[in-house]
Amino acid sequence: MAHDLVIVANRLPVDRVTGRDGETTWRRSPGGLVSAIEPVMRAGDGVWVGWPGGTEQHLEPFEIDGLHLVPLSMTAEEITEHYEGFSNATLWPLYHDVVAKPEFHREWWDAYTRVNERFAEHAAELAAEGATVWVHDYQLQLVPQMLRERRPDLRIGFYLHIPFPPAELFQQLPWRRQILEGLLGADLIGFQLPGAAQNFVRLVRQRVGHKTHRDRVHLPDGREVRAAAFPISIDAAGFEELASSEPVAERAAAIREALGNPRKIFLGIDRLDYTKGIHARLRAYGELVRDEHFSVEDAVFVQVAVPSREQVEQYRILRDDIDRLVGRLNGDLGRIGRPAISYLHSSYPREEMAALYRAADIMVVTPYRDGMNLVAKEYVACRIEEDGALVLSEFAGAADELRQAWLVNPYDINGMKAALLDAYRAEPKELSRRMKAMRKQIAQHDVKAWADSFLTSLADDGADTDARDS
Ligand code: F6P
Repeated sequence: MAHDLVIVANRLPVDRVTGRDGETTWRRSPGGLVSAIEPVMRAGDGVWVGWPGGTEQHLEPFEIDGLHLVPLSMTAEEITEHYEGFSNATLWPLYHDVVAKPEFHREWWDAYTRVNERFAEHAAELAAEGATVWVHDYQLQLVPQMLRERRPDLRIGFYLHIPFPPAELFQQLPWRRQILEGLLGADLIGFQLPGAAQNFVRLVRQRVGHKTHRDRVHLPDGREVRAAAFPISIDAAGFEELASSEPVAERAAAIREALGNPRKIFLGIDRLDYTKGIHARLRAYGELVRDEHFSVEDAVFVQVAVPSREQVEQYRILRDDIDRLVGRLNGDLGRIGRPAISYLHSSYPREEMAALYRAADIMVVTPYRDGMNLVAKEYVACRIEEDGALVLSEFAGAADELRQAWLVNPYDINGMKAALLDAYRAEPKELSRRMKAMRKQIAQHDVKAWADSFLTSLADDGADTDARDS
């Protein structure tokens, strides 16, 4: 069956659930992307192509809550080389300021190309004449061009969820030209921030030699590609509603109680990733306790680290580092029944996240580099009483919008300590002034507005081109 909208993303928006009888079923994952796109998918009879996780082969298309999903299988070797290798040990560190050293392996590149080819083939088969195909993220940067070769009739959009690096770093990539050309298969390329779009346009001019003007690339065949910023967001109203619910309020109170009702709770929630700056933030907090700015009775730190990419070496090293640091800080600073840091290596459902956000006085989000960071926005959406402080890295995309946060340089431990202390001591009036402004920003720029603005731009640019052609 042909569809008017095809979403192509490395993962399907579902999690596999294995029942007691060993039978697997699917549960919709709570991500914001699917809820944002859902209305458009329904209206346009859309379909979503993606990897469901695991190595199971020959999975049939299926429907969940009326959404059409097409699973694309990967072999164990493809997972190692395409997903863990080229996507997460080459591109991921390269695109995040080389926080870890990217590895370049020719076999990984070959696997990345093969998997991208398969995604493109699937999308080409599923799309109706003149359909819109929206490709997502760094795992699939070759798909736009591969798709255009097969189906020049399509409107193709691409959105990069992570940062796009400056030319000086991107140039390390042995396959830099192929990636740029892959992306140029799209009509519209969306980035989180204007700086990323500018990095891309500059690289296209330097490395591919196409003419560019502001946010447009002019291709020799007359086609135009636009590169622009579309900062992603969250389902703000959904989070607010959840945070306002009785069970979440009760759970938030129970969390505070379980932590011994300290005066203040610091909170970090991150995928366990070396870009997130977890180590430095825990050190900053530990030094504040050590230097007696506050005691563990006054202030505890809850750090949730969601397991992620556990087969990739850098992630294993990080896990050991954090385990060691938490053990040391708790050993040095904790008292009986009062660990300084409550460290949870686990993922939690949205309800528990909302309760944690409501329980926490100071949210600490200190990545070395982050495309956006939705946790920062979720915290703001859940602060229905317009209190609470956000300490936010300048290097998270969210810092462009959440200007009233305590902005920090995560490489500057003393600067972070000063910000944590300032947020800890802030008066209620100051907290509410800042939080009100941030809540207004998030309410006005939610994930629905993000998806609508991307898809409208994609359609409008097409209309412009069609008008010029006729
Ligand atoms: O935002 C970057 C991203 O890689 C997304 O593409 C993905 O949904 C998320 O992080 C989680 O990563 P993974 O799919 O590797 O578990």
